[in-house]
Formats: sequence, C-alpha cells, structure tokens
Amino acid sequence: MLNPAERVSMVRKEVVGLPRYNAGLPEEHVREHYQVERVVRLASNENPFGVGTKAARAAARALVDLGKYSDPEARRLRRALSAATGAGASNIVVGNGSEELICLICRACLRPADRVVTVTPSFLLHEIYPAEQGADVVAVPMRSDLAFPVEEILDAMADGCRMVIFSSPSNPVGTILTASALERIHRSAQPRTLLVIDEAYYEYARENPDYPDSLRLLAGGSAPYAVLRTFSKAYGLAGARVGYGIFSDPDIAGHIDKLRTPFNVNRIAQAAALAALDDLDHIERTITHNRRERERLSAELQRRGFRVAPSHANFLFMDFGTDSVKIAERLLQSGIVVKPWRQKGFQHFLRVTIGSREDNDLFLQALANLL
Ligand SMILES: Cc1ncc(COP(=O)(O)O)c(C=O)c1O
Repeated sequence: MLNPAERVSMVRKEVVGLPRYNAGLPEEHVREHYQVERVVRLASNENPFGVGTKAARAAARALVDLGKYSDPEARRLRRALSAATGAGASNIVVGNGSEELICLICRACLRPADRVVTVTPSFLLHEIYPAEQGADVVAVPMRSDLAFPVEEILDAMADGCRMVIFSSPSNPVGTILTASALERIHRSAQPRTLLVIDEAYYEYARENPDYPDSLRLLAGGSAPYAVLRTFSKAYGLAGARVGYGIFSDPDIAGHIDKLRTPFNVNRIAQAAALAALDDLDHIERTITHNRRERERLSAELQRRGFRVAPSHANFLFMDFGTDSVKIAERLLQSGIVVKPWRQKGFQHFLRVTIGSREDNDLFLQALANLL
C-alpha cells in the first residue's frame, strides 16, 4: 500500500505544482451559502441576454437525435466558420470551448523548458496549460496605464521562445493590441515561434477601428499563428462549450485536431453554434446593449473616483486601491458575484461583467452601500 506522499509522486511534478483555475461560484451555491434570493452573475463575462432564439430552437431540435454521436469532424460548423471568416475549413479546429484549444495547442507544441511569453494579468489558462507541459512561462506585466507592454514583449521574445500567447481584448483588462503592435510582434517572431491570439471577446471589439483584423494581418507574415474565438461570450452559448481555432497552416491544425477527444463537441452544441452564427439580430442587440451599458457603468464608476481601464470587451477592470477579495466577499453577501483579481501586482483590481441594465444597477447600488 502506498502512503499519501508516495501516491502523489505518481502524478507528474508539473501537475502537482499547478495552481487551480478559479472557475467561479455556481449560482445555487451563492443562493444557499449567502441566503440570498437573487444572484447577480457578473463574474464570468456571460451574455446577459443568454442564448438567442435561433440557437435555442436549433438546440431543442437536436435533442431528438441525442441517441446518436455528434459529427466528430463538426463538418457543417467548420464549413460555416470557414465562410464567416474566410479561412479554409482545414485550417479550423473546433473545441469544447476555446479553453480546450489552448490546452491542445500546448500539448501539441510545447516541450519541457520551452519558453512561453505571455502578459500579466492574464487569462490564467494561458499560464496553466504551458506550465503543465513543463514550459517556462515569462509573464510580462501590463503597463502601469494598463496598455499592452509591447516593447517588453518584444524584448522577452528576443531571447527566443516557442510560443507567445495573450488575449486581445485582454481578459481581464479589456484593452486591445493595435494593428501596428500586432504586426511588430508577428514580424519579430522566429519561424518556430507560434503566436496565439486569444480573441474570446472579438465580437465586442471588432466595431472599433483600432482593433486589427488579425486574420488578414497575420496572413501577410511568415511565422505560424493561431487565432482563438468562442461562442461563449457574444453568442451567449457559454453552457454549450464551443470554441474554435483558426491556424495559419492546415498541417499544424491537423496535428492539434488529433489530440482532442473524438466527439469533443456534442450534437446540441454543434447545432446551437451553427444557428447562432446566423442570428445577426442577437449579436447586434448584444453588442449595442454592451456598448451602452459599458459606457454608462464606466462613467458612473469613474464619477465615484474609481480608476477603470478602457474596455473593448463585455467587462470592466477597476482599481479599488485595497484588497479586492474582501470587497468581492462583501458584494456576495448581497448576491452580487464579481471576480476579484488574484495575480501579483493586481490584487486591488476587480473584474465586473457588463450585465443587464437592472443587474448593473444592483451592482452600483451594492457598491454604494459598501463604501
Ligand atoms: C480570454 C479567454 N479565453 C478563453 C476563454 C474560454 O472560453 P470558452 O468558454 O470558449 O472555453 C475565456 C473565458 O472566459 C477567456 O476570457
């Protein structure tokens, strides 16, 4: 019989050392634990309108075929994504959420001691999955004005690296990388450096003329890249788990595709995503609401004296000047769930999703009651 320490030694040391990803609190838990009737979900950047009618109907229609496996190649969805993005269907890999694609890319491309350049604060899976493969993660801090640290990223890349990965708009900050900065980063990437741009919030940012059309821009360069997008945010399908990656090269895409489980995106999710792509009204309504509420919330928070990063996504990153975990805990007592940031140097920040007008007002009210 192995003792507990010996049992743990069966697990790779890279895995033992990994931090746990903070995936947030389920609504039922908040309701029971804090004895609140209403839970206001502002921690996971979900769409306050939820799923659109077209996707909901398609998901319902798919139910009768639940006895059958899904299309393992997600052919219809990949063809539709190819038509929507202009990328070849063989350059596209569909994942169980875009987080699966981050994991698969790291498993496919990283070897122990490879260097990976990212930024901090960041979406933590950009660090966790490389670390799982034994890579050395170099996390460059965002600038003090919360813009991307372009020069520092270029410096870190100059020492050689296998992968550069970050989100634009940045989660949690909300700021974007400009076209010229993206071009410089791509141009300075070595032929064996994979540039991974996580565009989970693409649909919110693309209306901004300063937000680069990364697919067009990257296609003009020579270094390999992957652009990741998701149906979880603007399309309102977080619970369905569908994301996709567009790769510079069908061969890289093909190898990464081999690593996923064969039926990684279920039948209902494929049907819902396909229908969501077609529901332009739902996207339009979502983006318009988000823009208006983001401006209103940001202006009100700044009027109250908070520093708020300029956001191109569906959340705001705000500085409390004090431990934000304590603030978040007090908001939970009113049923308001927000995300206190825990990465070093940013523990004074809170990330709050742009919700419905009513939920945003409840957040503002609860905040006023605290201070
Ligand atoms: C930057 C970023 N990438 C990826 C994801 C994962 O999204 P998905 O639901 O597609 O797995 C998120 C979710 O919050 C995110 O913020």
